[in-house]
Amino acid sequence: MSVDRISSVVKKDSSSTLREKRKVSLPKLDWELNALEPYISAQINELHYAKHHQTYVNGFNAAVDQLENLTFQLASNPSPTIAEKIVCVQQNLKFHGGGFINHCLFWKSLAPKSQGGGRPPTGALAESIDKQFGSLGNLIDKVNSSLAALQGSGWVFIVKNLEIGGDLDIVQTLNQDTVAGSLVPLLAIDAWEHAYYLQYQNRKMDYFQSIWNIINWAEASKKFDGAKLLNY
Ligand SMILES: [Fe+2]
Repeated sequence: MSVDRISSVVKKDSSSTLREKRKVSLPKLDWELNALEPYISAQINELHYAKHHQTYVNGFNAAVDQLENLTFQLASNPSPTIAEKIVCVQQNLKFHGGGFINHCLFWKSLAPKSQGGGRPPTGALAESIDKQFGSLGNLIDKVNSSLAALQGSGWVFIVKNLEIGGDLDIVQTLNQDTVAGSLVPLLAIDAWEHAYYLQYQNRKMDYFQSIWNIINWAEASKKFDGAKLLNY
């Protein structure tokens, strides 16, 4: 084998190894799949984590690979056809990337009772909730209203809005759209049917009411404290 050929093989191998290393993967959960019962069944968690979230992981990694290849092609052949393919891949990137991120946030938003799930927040987050909403119960009612108003699949986030002095906001998104930039997600609640249907069927409001028993307010407080205001 010539030196050039060896060099080419080595470059290809190191490139594909690097690509493998760059791939995202399912996050490790902080609790067992049955630990959120009776509020979310083990069966739902197993399917949600190992099947649905894994699909977003795979879809995101595939879209990143495709985008990388197409961007390389565009550099040597700047044609509308390649540009069109890139636009299509960007849609997949948005959907699967959002799905990957949102579910990572979702798992962190939940905790078994034995690990503090449902225990009300303390500190600066608790003070902001009281100041803005009057009570934790009022905030929960508003989030539940936002969840109930979702038409189709989507998410509701409690965020710290850095553009308005770090006040709390309730943000609703459709499909797998996520929040970014000045909106720092503290909690993410999955309102897709796959998150509750096996257990709650058409009683989605029962799911939304139940989930507060296992909300990880300690994690939300940590994110609230860690998000610093933007300097303009
Ligand atoms: Fe989901």
